[in-house]
Amino acid sequence: MSDTLSLQGRTALVTGSSRGLGAATARRLARAGCDVVITYRRKDREAAAVAEAVEATGRRAWVHRCDMSRIDHIDALMDAVEDPATGPGRLDVVVANAAATSFRPLMDAQPRHVERTFAISVTGFLRLVQRAVPLMEAGGGGRIVAVSGADTVTWIPAHGILAAAKAALESMVAYLACELGERGITVVGVNPGWIDGDSLQLMLGPFYEAAADVERRTHPMRSTMSPDDVAETVALLCTDAARLTSGSIVRADGAGVFAFCGRFIQLAAEQAMAAGAVDPGDGDAPSVVGPT
Ligand SMILES: NC(=O)c1ccc[n+]([C@@H]2O[C@H](COP(=O)([O-])OP(=O)(O)OC[C@H]3O[C@@H](n4cnc5c(N)ncnc54)[C@H](OP(=O)(O)O)[C@@H]3O)[C@@H](O)[C@H]2O)c1
Repeated sequence: MSDTLSLQGRTALVTGSSRGLGAATARRLARAGCDVVITYRRKDREAAAVAEAVEATGRRAWVHRCDMSRIDHIDALMDAVEDPATGPGRLDVVVANAAATSFRPLMDAQPRHVERTFAISVTGFLRLVQRAVPLMEAGGGGRIVAVSGADTVTWIPAHGILAAAKAALESMVAYLACELGERGITVVGVNPGWIDGDSLQLMLGPFYEAAADVERRTHPMRSTMSPDDVAETVALLCTDAARLTSGSIVRADGAGVFAFCGRFIQLAAEQAMAAGAVDPGDGDAPSVVGPT
């Protein structure tokens, strides 16, 4: 009986794998035994470094520039992947990770901001799947993992455009799971919470340190999650063992998003006590603060 938790000998394509979660996923899948197609939009040196890391595990790597908002780029990528002269010639796993948006309130959004965000996460995602499925099917089936975001389930300031695109992505995950199951292809979404990486530091700017401190102190696991942490869950979802998750959106956040209401109360209580505004009592009274 084959080991359904093994990814040994598989071939994976990870979009947006020059940095962040995509890069961590490419490296993790290589350590699990996958050859990896790495794609990027602008950061060619970073993409080459990820390819080196993949090859250092003894697996093969291919690097392709592909702007996921461009159908012609996606078609060129998949042409290259299908051809054994320029790519692996087969595909078992697709991780649709690339995303980009314009972070702004919805009332400030211009049509071009919405169109570009949707071009990557909705139109581009669908084209990638349409091109990848025949290749996966020819190899006996496969798994598609789509990376969503916490903004579909909770308000994150300035995330409205991306949240709408990711919500559409999540809908397509469920529909594709229904359409592709009989062809041996499963489709799952993964919804990370706060990923402690470059993109978050860029988005939060001068508030990053303060926000990271609150995240660490109030998260149920009392830590932030690195791209490598989240990549562990993504890799797990790529295995055959996870095939019954098809059609689901799996949260990979250690309950961080579910806990937001309690974290808010906990923080308010801590701040009130630190300011001396509240007497914590003798310890017998019920407390909303909980273990720290
Ligand atoms: N960061 C978080 O806290 C967080 C939380 C939940 C979900 N997510 C989701 O997780 C995924 C990865 O996030 P991340 O923070 O790791 O991202 P990141 O560090 O900003 O990296 C984004 C990656 O996508 C590529 N990319 C950007 N625009 C692209 C385009 N138009 N076409 C193709 N590739 C493009 C980038 O390529 P270049 O390097 O060449 O620019 C890079 O490899 C995204 O889907 C994001 O929405 C992130």
